[in-house]
Amino acid sequence: MRVIRTENYEAMSAQVAALIAAQVIAKPDCVLGLATGSTPIGAYARLVEWRQKGGLSFAGVRTVNLDEYYELPPEHEQSYRHFMQINLFDHVDILPENTNLPDGLAPDPETECDRYDALIDALGGCDLQLLGLGHNGHIGFNEPGPVFVLPTHLAFLTESTINANSRLFASKEEVPRMALTMGIRGIMKAKRVVVAVSGADKAEAVARAFAGPVNPEVPASILQLHPDVVLVGDRAALSGLEE
Ligand code: F6R
Repeated sequence: MRVIRTENYEAMSAQVAALIAAQVIAKPDCVLGLATGSTPIGAYARLVEWRQKGGLSFAGVRTVNLDEYYELPPEHEQSYRHFMQINLFDHVDILPENTNLPDGLAPDPETECDRYDALIDALGGCDLQLLGLGHNGHIGFNEPGPVFVLPTHLAFLTESTINANSRLFASKEEVPRMALTMGIRGIMKAKRVVVAVSGADKAEAVARAFAGPVNPEVPASILQLHPDVVLVGDRAALSGLEE
């Protein structure tokens, strides 16, 4: 695992954006696995800036997002589809038909999960998978549990995740209790994984994930077994890891 330490959130975002841009330049028709949440917003803003000022092109890029809330319509302002549109897709030259998220409104979630895994397989897996990290060690919505759940699945959000995500909803009651998430297999199949972390509140999760035992109670710990992980974090988030 490579660790890139930065001073602050802005520098972390620039590093993450640079890794993604390098991937797109090296392979213009690459498959990017993308994440939502607060952490990648700065990196997406940089990519938009480089598209607009520097001509970085996403015309051949295909994307596969990690997750989507279950039963939230795509036009809902907290849906992950909406998040991706306003933070990235609407501002770069990516083709709409090349952007993929699980369909949160699919009538049969099981069929939708199978479709999503078949799509990831058909694309040959992700060239680069971007991840954030939950306070409880989750990646995507792979929540702590007795086993690593391998396929795309319907996940029940834990209390910790519901509390963390309630900051974006009018009330805690409005946070969806379920989400469709890429499983551990889809994530581990990526050729390169970039984990972005920022802030002292992530320090404990970072230490448990990357300096503790591999354990499904800390889903991100599986990344210790991936051959190409780049952990990009500011000093606060990486304070629990030795230099
Ligand atoms: C988002 C996702 C989640 C977040 C994680 C961290 O698509 O899959 O795993 O990456 O909850 O969220 P933030 O960045 O808001 O702290």
